[in-house]
Amino acid sequence: MNSEESIYGHYIDILPEVMDAIVKPIIRFNEETEKETGHGLYNHLLYRIKSDASMREKLEKRGLPVTTESALKKVHDALGIRIIAGYVDDIYVMIGHLRSLPSCRVVEEKDYIRNSKPNGYRSYHMILEFTVPFEDVSGNDPGHYFAEIQLRTIAMDSWASLEHELKYKHQIGNEKMIVSELKRVADELASCDLSMQTIRDLIRQE
Ligand code: GTP
Ligand code: MG
Repeated sequence: MNSEESIYGHYIDILPEVMDAIVKPIIRFNEETEKETGHGLYNHLLYRIKSDASMREKLEKRGLPVTTESALKKVHDALGIRIIAGYVDDIYVMIGHLRSLPSCRVVEEKDYIRNSKPNGYRSYHMILEFTVPFEDVSGNDPGHYFAEIQLRTIAMDSWASLEHELKYKHQIGNEKMIVSELKRVADELASCDLSMQTIRDLIRQE
């Protein structure tokens, strides 16, 4: 797709570099922590640029003009990062680090770990605005780019994948039962996360 067709206009060519500029320091911080303590803070870091089709769909759904400006300034998850950790405590260490970055401004935080959604969904969501050495859609250089970072444990992530899959299966029989079973499993997984954290702390104390 050329830049005239992309919802991101000519920024489609810059976005991967912006993503790189945001993600690299997070990866480096994890490597440094691992060197210092022998333990990294997460297992996986995934990222994606929101597809053209999903971005257009989101703009239309929200009644926003379908423009590059809206895609990069009104919607805040054109750049999406997911950090999947072994332990809940490490998630909060990473959150503290992200908050402390000079190039980063916290726009919004949702703690669905301490306040899970009614369906059982758990994850920590941050909307961050990064200053990067690339022009942005308002003409600033260094520019400002929004990114959504979701932080969750492996257990929370496996639950979210399964539940997400289910949302797109419209005709399921027994939906009520499945929803309540999913909620039950989410709470059980949260309790397992807590136990795993305790076991790790015990081992590290020795
Ligand atoms: P959008 O930004 O439009 O998605 O709405 P929002 O800001 O109200 O959503 P929120 O920050 O709560 O969630 C944004 C993202 O979190 C979604 O796109 C999903 O990736 C994830 N998410 C939120 N709630 C759920 C949920 O109940 N189940 C699963 N599987 N994922 C969820
Ligand atoms: Mg959101």
